[in-house]
Amino acid sequence: MLKKKMLKALTRQINEEMYSGYLYLSMESYFHSISLSGFATWMRVQAQEELAHGMKFYDYVNERGGRVILDTINRPDSEWETPLVAFEQIMAHEEKVTALINGLMDLAITEQDHATKIFLQWFVSEQVEEESSVGGVLNKLRLIQNDSSGLFMLDAEMAKRVFVLPAKG
Ligand code: FEO
Repeated sequence: MLKKKMLKALTRQINEEMYSGYLYLSMESYFHSISLSGFATWMRVQAQEELAHGMKFYDYVNERGGRVILDTINRPDSEWETPLVAFEQIMAHEEKVTALINGLMDLAITEQDHATKIFLQWFVSEQVEEESSVGGVLNKLRLIQNDSSGLFMLDAEMAKRVFVLPAKG
């Protein structure tokens, strides 16, 4: 059985992950509106991953006998000045999520909740991967700046991303 403090923090994280899904869905639509369909595909995959993260927390809480009380999901932004501005926001957002995951891990350690520590390990590694992949795109966008041919080349690369359901556990 999960302790009250841990249950509250894990339930909060479901909301954060669902919000992340909303943010990336909003960005998908933005990228469609500026005819960058490869970026839009990348965002759809990112949104699917976030929703899967939320479900991973949801399933874990239920598995541990916790009752999930869902909260309101905040409204994400819907406009960005440029793709670079959008990716700067993504990087800041993922850094915030990393801090939240680390905070959950700190709590699991304090509470001596070994099962939750093992569960969170996957998210610690996932955040390293997420920051690295977002950082890669961000660097390319900084190099490209406002060069439209560079942007279309990157768009073709972004189109290749496919969603893979994260493994259970
Ligand atoms: Fe679920 Fe992008 O972290």
